[in-house]
Amino acid sequence: MNEQTRRDFLRTTVAGAAAGSVFGMAGTTNASWLGHNALKLEKRQLGKTDMKVSVLGFGGAEIGYGRTDQDRVTQLLNTAIDQGLDAIDTAECYADSEIAIANAVSHRRDDYYLFTKVGHWPRGGGADGWSDKSIMETIERSLKRLKTDHVDLVHLHSCGLDVLKKGEATAALEKAREQGKTRYIGYSGDSLAAKYAIETGKFDTLMTSISFCDQEAIDLTLPLCRERNMGVIVKRGIANAVWRFDTKPSNGYVVEYWNRMNKLAYDFTSAENRSNTGPDGPAGIAIRFMLGLPGVHTSVVGTTNPTRFAQNAALINAGPLPDEQVKAIRARWKEVAPTEWVGLT
Ligand SMILES: NC(=O)c1ccc[n+]([C@@H]2O[C@H](COP(=O)([O-])OP(=O)(O)OC[C@H]3O[C@@H](n4cnc5c(N)ncnc54)[C@H](OP(=O)(O)O)[C@@H]3O)[C@@H](O)[C@H]2O)c1
Repeated sequence: MNEQTRRDFLRTTVAGAAAGSVFGMAGTTNASWLGHNALKLEKRQLGKTDMKVSVLGFGGAEIGYGRTDQDRVTQLLNTAIDQGLDAIDTAECYADSEIAIANAVSHRRDDYYLFTKVGHWPRGGGADGWSDKSIMETIERSLKRLKTDHVDLVHLHSCGLDVLKKGEATAALEKAREQGKTRYIGYSGDSLAAKYAIETGKFDTLMTSISFCDQEAIDLTLPLCRERNMGVIVKRGIANAVWRFDTKPSNGYVVEYWNRMNKLAYDFTSAENRSNTGPDGPAGIAIRFMLGLPGVHTSVVGTTNPTRFAQNAALINAGPLPDEQVKAIRARWKEVAPTEWVGLT
């Protein structure tokens, strides 16, 4: 899915939430979720990096594209960090996500690992976002916007095989790492491009889509990451919560998952189970399924909701799914998924 379509989708779905601050919006706060107490949240070693990351990370696209109110972002991120969040993911192109994150938490930079991405900036004017020049400029821009002198990880933002094979973008990231602008480098993407990226041996981490609606990576790339001790960060790990829609969503970013979900017809996404917000509801099963897969270290879940981190942490703390349930989800996928159901970027 291209960034344009994704951006449009996120603008429309989170626009309501972005309109007001958490303090002023009825129905968005729940005192029991907003306590500043650390929750018990597992941390995992992110492959061969020195980072031990909370299994639940934060995805910064939604606050950027949704233009979420700064007070709300500040509340959301500080509360989540106090509760155990330590992995924050953003990107050069998520509108002003980098700026909002910096405004919210740059004063406590040592409390979290910061990941960003390159490749989609600058736009237009014939600029090639994957060139050495663009990547170096983009990283400088991100550091300024993030109000820091280094990030912990920069991912190539879902470039295709052609860009990976050319090598210039990867070499630029290696240079940025040598210069101390980022401590580690990774590839964010899916399917055969992700496999190729792993096989180059140049990346410390892979960020990739895995959910009950998106299982290609489980056989294609996860085993390779395990062999090479690469850090694995899951995106789209709750399938964009696509069960929230009563009817087929109009935007392409989630419509493919909607179609897959309906064909897969898991009992936990059936009409009567979709409103179950507990560990055996669709969000609980999604998150417990994905984090239970060997080799997965963390998942960056996107949200504009300050209560969500604690809510999702509670789902995780219900523990991994029973083996039979994992086997059933895998078996159903193998039975139904055609070969064209590849990992979605
Ligand atoms: N190519 C790439 O590199 C790439 C692509 C996609 C995503 N990402 C990264 O991954 C992050 C997450 O994006 P995503 O596309 O993967 O989205 P996602 O995390 O699968 O889904 C996010 C959506 O799920 C909702 N949600 C979260 N927890 C929920 C729960 N327990 N019950 C119901 N709804 C829930 C959120 O709504 P609320 O606001 O209501 O919580 C939000 O709208 C992005 O922010 C970005 O950092 C990277």
